[in-house]
Amino acid sequence: MFISQTKFLSTVALAAVAATTLNSCKPKGASAAVVGNAAEKVYVAPGKYDEFYDFVSGGFNGQLSVYGIPSGRLLRIIPVFSTHPESGWGYSEETKPMLNTSHGEVPWDDLHHIALSTTNGEHDGRWVFANGNNTPRIARVSMRTFRTEEIIEIPNSAGNHSSPFITENTEYTIAGTRFSIPVQNNLDAPINTYKQNYKGTVSFIKVDSSSGRMNIAFQVLTPGIDFDLSRGGKGPSHDWFFFSCYNSEKANTLLEVNASAKDKDFIMALNWKKAEQYAREGRGKMVPAEYAHNVYDDTKHQATSTIEKQVLLLDPKDCPDMIYFIPCPKSPHGTDVDPTGQYLVSSGKLAALIPVFSFAKVQQAIANKTFDGTFEGFPVLKYESVLHGEVQKPGLGPLHTEFDNDGNAYTSMFVSSEIVKWRIKDVKVLDRVPTYYFIGHLSVMGGPTRKPYGKYMVAYNKITKDRYLPTGPELAQSAQLYDISGDKMKLILDFPTVGEPHYAEAIPASKISQNSVKIFKIENNAHPYAAKGEGQTKVERKGNQVHVWMTAIRSHLTPDNIEGVKAGDDVYFHVTNLEQDWDVPHGFAIKNANNAEILIMPGETQTLKFKAEKSGIYPFYCTDFCSALHQEMQGYLRVSPAGSNVALLYSTGKNLPAVTDPTTDSIGKGSTSGATSSR
Ligand code: CUA
Repeated sequence: MFISQTKFLSTVALAAVAATTLNSCKPKGASAAVVGNAAEKVYVAPGKYDEFYDFVSGGFNGQLSVYGIPSGRLLRIIPVFSTHPESGWGYSEETKPMLNTSHGEVPWDDLHHIALSTTNGEHDGRWVFANGNNTPRIARVSMRTFRTEEIIEIPNSAGNHSSPFITENTEYTIAGTRFSIPVQNNLDAPINTYKQNYKGTVSFIKVDSSSGRMNIAFQVLTPGIDFDLSRGGKGPSHDWFFFSCYNSEKANTLLEVNASAKDKDFIMALNWKKAEQYAREGRGKMVPAEYAHNVYDDTKHQATSTIEKQVLLLDPKDCPDMIYFIPCPKSPHGTDVDPTGQYLVSSGKLAALIPVFSFAKVQQAIANKTFDGTFEGFPVLKYESVLHGEVQKPGLGPLHTEFDNDGNAYTSMFVSSEIVKWRIKDVKVLDRVPTYYFIGHLSVMGGPTRKPYGKYMVAYNKITKDRYLPTGPELAQSAQLYDISGDKMKLILDFPTVGEPHYAEAIPASKISQNSVKIFKIENNAHPYAAKGEGQTKVERKGNQVHVWMTAIRSHLTPDNIEGVKAGDDVYFHVTNLEQDWDVPHGFAIKNANNAEILIMPGETQTLKFKAEKSGIYPFYCTDFCSALHQEMQGYLRVSPAGSNVALLYSTGKNLPAVTDPTTDSIGKGSTSGATSSR
């Protein structure tokens, strides 16, 4: 109780520091912090390109956004876990399955972390992995199409925060659960039996080296602690994965106080090569687990969702010498491996120092059994025996560390709102620079790879306050760009971001720009409802479903007049964009549709479902300004009362049925024998 009280007081004190800092860290003339030639360093002249693509998590908007560095220009928002009416993501029939889970459609998530695929620890320009924090999911986004290709749900997990980080050759993408939960049996265990019944898991998702296809190879059961972040080893530490964890107290209420009671929490070191071997040897067991696996097919232009029914679970009791715990002061947040793979930097949010561990010493301590007792039956390595050094007085609230190629580390300091540069070799602080305000993650170009590119660093701040023109109670989140090419870090640009950025990773533009897909080849379009030319357009009724095979090309939709739909019908507009030119999408929207538009890329087919609920005339049109006659790209759907006998008719450039006397009302006349072709 006494400990809790003390801890509580110090948490309050920390909050007070935070509040004071917030008020006092306003720069004395913001321009004072900016170097004189900043403008020329970030200026990308009209028509010129940025040096880097920066893939930035959108946090609570559930999306990924792509910025150019050094300009800070927003290039693209890639919908991932959240519906996106702008492109129809999650609204079109083709993309709806991507948001399917074992709980049905979950059209939102909290996207925190990014991992760009690597080969030999270097960016290979293939995929971006991103985590859904809330309903545990991992997405894979293609760097060729800038689209989400695959989403896999993670069973036995809750709060997928320690995710998705990758092994050096993208053998696996890894996901650790933040919340421990009952796993396997007694899923309804009372919350106050947390200590006995709640467990953590870390999941190893195999990534196919050629297609990128993911599948959960195995999960490892762990003590009921909270995993925060993780990183894979590199070079000498290639076989290992490191997870920061808090709540070794195993508290299940008022964690603010109760999970900060102990002086040290842990970094969990897991030998994934051994885990892989144990899985292969059959030491795990298949357990029931329901999770969705959603894959988008670029040829069929549609997603499928499969519900998987079991997962391979490894119990460390049956897998010796696989997991060790490294003590780490005060609620560690980030844990980061340096480019050489020899050092592990772990930042305790409430610690006044940053411990740096030596991987060689970790190996030695394991070999010599230099243990300091056990935690939940796992050996705890002796802190001093694995320590390379401690960065003294780095600042307040260390969170995350990134690296350059010259043996330096950069740590974000949340409470004191700054970035501290220090040298790994002698853990000496070299420089510090303020951030405005309350930095969370930071990102050095190539910082998590074996060969960082350096040059720029971006701070992703939690509070924006007075950095931009006020926009009511809600402000844009804020990123800040620093030049780190010299000894001193220099602030050169502020740029607002979309959503709340957590982690971000940048890659040289040259590694992906030349592979960017420009069109989908129409001859490869295998969508079952594709119309690969206007001659293939048609309208067919199947019960109360009406399917429209429609084409779009500058500047008309075929068909553009449709009749014979009745109230109560479901109309599926399958729109194929016949263009084969880069940057000529067409859009499709219809009055009163209770979803969104669809945006169709050249050569692609997408489907908008329209529930024809009431009789009436429903205009539809192209939403993307595609040509001088874009405004003319429009048409009509006539919905007649239920039970009426209006024939199915469709046409473009004709008026069907032919009317001899245009003043005559043709309702109920004309073609009465079902569908009439009108080409
Ligand atoms: Cu097609 Cu506007």
